Amino acid sequence: MALARSSAEGNPMAQVGLQALSLEQKASLLTGGGFWSTAAIPEAGVATIVLADGPHGVRRQKHGTDHLGLHHSEPATCFPPAVAVGSSWSEEVASKVGAALAEEARALGVDVLLGPGVNIKRSPLGGRNFEYYSEDPLLSGVLATAYVKALQAGGVGASLKHFAANDQETERMVISADVDERTLREIHLSAFERVVTEAEPATVMCSYNKINGVHASENHWLLTQVLRTEWGYTGAVISDWGAVRTRPAALNAGLDLSMPGPGHHSTQALVKAVRDGRVEESAVDRAAERVLALIDGSGRRPAAPDLDAHHELARELATECAVLLKNAHGTLPLDRTSSVLVVGEFATTPRYQGGGSSHVNATRVDVPLECIENHAAARGTTLMYARGFDTREEDGDALRAAAVRAATEAEVVVVFAGNPEAEETEGLDRDRLELPPAQVQLIKELAAVAPRTVVVLANGGIVSLEEWHDDVDAILEGFLLGQGGGAAIADLLFGAANPSGRLAETIPHRLKDTPTYLSFPGEQEHVRYNEGVMIGYRYYETVGAPVRYPFGHGLSYTDFDVSDLRVQVDGPAEALATVTVTNVGTRAGKYVVQVYVSTHTGPVRRPERTLAAFTKVHLEPAETRTVQLSLDRRAFAYWDLPLARWVVPDGAYVVQVGENASALLHEQLVHLAGDGVRPPLSLQSDVADWLAHPVAGAPLRARLAPLIAQGGPEPEPFEDSDMMRMVGSMPMSQILNLTGGAIDSDWLVSLLDNSDTRA
Ligand code: BGC
Repeated sequence: MALARSSAEGNPMAQVGLQALSLEQKASLLTGGGFWSTAAIPEAGVATIVLADGPHGVRRQKHGTDHLGLHHSEPATCFPPAVAVGSSWSEEVASKVGAALAEEARALGVDVLLGPGVNIKRSPLGGRNFEYYSEDPLLSGVLATAYVKALQAGGVGASLKHFAANDQETERMVISADVDERTLREIHLSAFERVVTEAEPATVMCSYNKINGVHASENHWLLTQVLRTEWGYTGAVISDWGAVRTRPAALNAGLDLSMPGPGHHSTQALVKAVRDGRVEESAVDRAAERVLALIDGSGRRPAAPDLDAHHELARELATECAVLLKNAHGTLPLDRTSSVLVVGEFATTPRYQGGGSSHVNATRVDVPLECIENHAAARGTTLMYARGFDTREEDGDALRAAAVRAATEAEVVVVFAGNPEAEETEGLDRDRLELPPAQVQLIKELAAVAPRTVVVLANGGIVSLEEWHDDVDAILEGFLLGQGGGAAIADLLFGAANPSGRLAETIPHRLKDTPTYLSFPGEQEHVRYNEGVMIGYRYYETVGAPVRYPFGHGLSYTDFDVSDLRVQVDGPAEALATVTVTNVGTRAGKYVVQVYVSTHTGPVRRPERTLAAFTKVHLEPAETRTVQLSLDRRAFAYWDLPLARWVVPDGAYVVQVGENASALLHEQLVHLAGDGVRPPLSLQSDVADWLAHPVAGAPLRARLAPLIAQGGPEPEPFEDSDMMRMVGSMPMSQILNLTGGAIDSDWLVSLLDNSDTRA
């Protein structure tokens, strides 16, 4: 575990050898001592540590406890939730959130913070999408890695969750995510893998659901084979709250700590299972060692965070997260606008976080209307306000009519619209993509009379823009921005800050266009991931389906020029992309360089393109920077099912720089030697695979060509012959039969003797 502490800071109570503990004592460590704590063994000098949600603020409950965000928690800064951090495309933002959270967690006596969540936004209807970063595993993994490193450098352990394939709330305790292994590896496990291998989170939290029929908490393949054996994870695996069904089975699968506690019953079940021989005592020892190491690593360092500074930080980070989707006629910023009408309940009662276990008791909340008033007053802008709608859907007609009347008197109308919190919460998936009908009607009626209309959105998952998109002039997608979101939005609207967020998820035209439309959220306790690896932009780009706004889209108040893409091959399966970015506009701003890879090499269907690297650069007007982005082998690899490993095939790869996933700016073709890995050949392998083999191929071709050409009118080039096209996909054994013994199997197999599966 990579927790930062000095040697004097370790928890002295916890530095206890296993040999000093009885079986009962060791087993007692493997279930929580309380709702938010591990079990203590005072007589053996083992202390307790505290765990708390997470992920975007500390939810420390000192009195009533629950895991649904119902009871009171201590005041803490509500930083931008993951949906916003994902849209920042900034490791710096993620890292600053992690570092600040560490201070607040320590001050509140929290040793492990339950986050980040890196599940993939499989459907826009996912109820917890606001707690997850992106539809892309690289973006999610890179941001979460930065967060975990900073959190743990601050002396607080992370809990990477929800492992794995917990991409919906419907039936979340029982649903089986039925996913093929390539899809798991390339999409749903990939962000977890990156965080585990690069940031060593103190704990990994298993999810509630089943994966291919086996509960995550009892899934040996997931918790032991993949996580520990393949990824080398040495920290503690903990359960989501209440995810363990059978304690001995969970221990055998690799789950160390079952939460929450107290767990007398669960301890007894473990002890009995050891005595009955269903669980090895060594398994209890291993898990107890990991829990003790977690306790030992949690050296409580005092902290006194400056909550004013953290509020300021929350505001500053939020400005990097909002995404300017549309800005026709230079409507934004409003710094030269004479009169503004603000409309909408969310301008006075902002939505800034989702519901459920991540719900933070914010230390304070910036109210957008008040922050807008400050900007307006400083510039002499006339400001008016109308509520326009009510989230409880009362007085809708009267509120709308009053707003529409006022709209004719303003130069620009700014509507604060969004989803009610009750619709975006843990435990529920959404049932529609559209904004509430009353808001849609309001926006359309306002836009019909107002000279200019701006819509500011607050929503945890994307919303459909279709019904009103073309009626309005500008759209600022704020998602959920945390407690400083109100000031951030005001700064962005008036140009005190320049938008630099980019979509971390595609906004489709219709729900029906989404790749999971037919299979989300599944039925009868099964959800089949039929879309395979074609999730989000991977799907839209592959099938050429139009979307409203692509992954990676986001505008700025300045303009950037991107030039001089150079790609240098740096090894058999690595490359380095270099690109130059210039701010050619008049305001300082940030640009997200997005590098994608497109290839058709290898035996599997690849998405049209996949994000391979990204970075965000700040540029003053006229400033130029040349950035380098490393493309490691994973940028080119696919998961090979028969070989059960990542493979980079030799062949052609196009490295692309895009304004977003749809709009390419530059590209360069490179050839990679690849891993030289080929599937092992047997007599059941295709003839084509035999012919492609670097050692066996040539002699086989020489023997086969005259046989295939026999009787043919014209000796065609061998590979192009009709006969070859027909036999290419036949198993070699069948061809041997057809040759009537002219080629025998011993000779064939002897060709491979001096050649393993590596070319
Ligand atoms: C959630 C977790 C959370 C835990 C503790 C569960 O319901 O799924 O994300 O960390 O409760 O509150």
